[in-house]
Amino acid sequence: MVYTRNDSPTGFQRTLINPEEFNYIDLIESKLIEALKDSRGIIRKICYHILRAGGKRVRPLLVCHSGMLFGEASEELFQAAVSVELIHMASLIHDDIIDETEFRRNQPTAQALWGVQHAVLGGDYLFAKAFRILADQKLVEPLEVMAHTVQTMCQGEIEQDSDQFQPLTDFDRYYSRITQKTASLIEASCRVGALVCQAPPDAVETIAQFGLHLGLAYQIIDDILDFCGDEIYMGKPKFTDLTKGNLTLPILLLLERSSEYEWLKEKLQERPFDQTLLPIIENAIRQSGVLKEAYRITVNHLDIARQNLRQCPNSPERRFLEELTDKLQARAN
Ligand code: FPP
Ligand code: MG
Repeated sequence: MVYTRNDSPTGFQRTLINPEEFNYIDLIESKLIEALKDSRGIIRKICYHILRAGGKRVRPLLVCHSGMLFGEASEELFQAAVSVELIHMASLIHDDIIDETEFRRNQPTAQALWGVQHAVLGGDYLFAKAFRILADQKLVEPLEVMAHTVQTMCQGEIEQDSDQFQPLTDFDRYYSRITQKTASLIEASCRVGALVCQAPPDAVETIAQFGLHLGLAYQIIDDILDFCGDEIYMGKPKFTDLTKGNLTLPILLLLERSSEYEWLKEKLQERPFDQTLLPIIENAIRQSGVLKEAYRITVNHLDIARQNLRQCPNSPERRFLEELTDKLQARAN
C-alpha cells in the first residue's frame, strides 16, 4: 500500500524535496512502517517515535535515484533504501546518547523518553533490522558496504569525542571526522543504489564520489548553521557544537586566520565551555568572514559532486540529484 500525504499513519510533516518525487517518499515511508511492524513493547514505541520525528529521507532517496540512474526500480532497491534509513535512524539514537541530547528535530530524544539503556537497545534493534533486510534480499555486496560504513561511522564518532576541547588547526583531522561520521553513509547510499541496479564498476565509483562530496557539503553546512542557523528550523539551539567542545570548520578557519585569536585557543580547551565567550565568538565569526569562506568550501564540494553527476546518464533521476544538490547549496545561503 502506498500512503498519501494526509493518510500517512505516522502523520509526518515533511519538506518535500521535489513534489514530483512525492510517491517515492511515500513508498519509502510505507516500507519503513512495514519493516518495523514486527517490533514489540518499548522497542516498538522507540522505533515509531523515531519514524514519526520525520526527516527528509535524503539517504533512501539517494539509494533509489542512484540506482535508477543505471537500472530499473525494484523491491530490492526499495528494501536497500529502507535499510540505509534504518541505519541512519540507529546512528542518530546512539549519537543523541553520546551527546546527551534531550531534543532532536524539536522532539524529545529516545533516551530522554525511555532512558539510556532502552535507547541503546532501540538503536541496536534498528541497526540489526537493517542488516536482516539486506540479508533477506541477498544483497551481499551492499551488506558488505553497509557493514564497512557503520565501522567507519563509529571511528568518526570516536575521533570527534577524542577531539573535543582540542583546538586543532589541523583541517585534515576535521575532514577525517566529517568524512567518516557523515559523508561515508551518504556515499554508501549512492554506492548501494548503483550496486543493486548492477551499474558498471566505474559508474559505481562515479556516483559514490558524488555522494561523498554531497555528504561533506551536507556536514559543513550543518556546521555553518550551528553558528548562524534558525533554531526552530534546525530543531536544536545554536552553538551546540561549540559548547560541547566540537570545533568545526568556521572556528578552525577563525583560529587559523589570525594570531589575534591565540587567547581563544587556550579558552576553548577549558571544560565546561565558558558561556560568556559566546557573544565574543559570535561577533568574531561574523566580522572575520569565515562563514563565507566555509560556504565557498561547501560550494567547491558541491561542484565536484555536480561534475561526477554529469558523467552519469542524462535522465530524470540525474535531474533529481542535480536539484537536490542545488537545494543543499541554497540551505546555507
Ligand atoms: C549526527 O551528526 C550523527 C552522525 C552523523 C553519525 C553518528 C554515528 C554513530 C553514533 C556511529 C554509528 C552507529 C550506528 C548504530 C549505525 P552530528 O552529531 O554532527 O549532528 P547532530 O547535531 O544532528 O547531532
Ligand atoms: Mg550529534
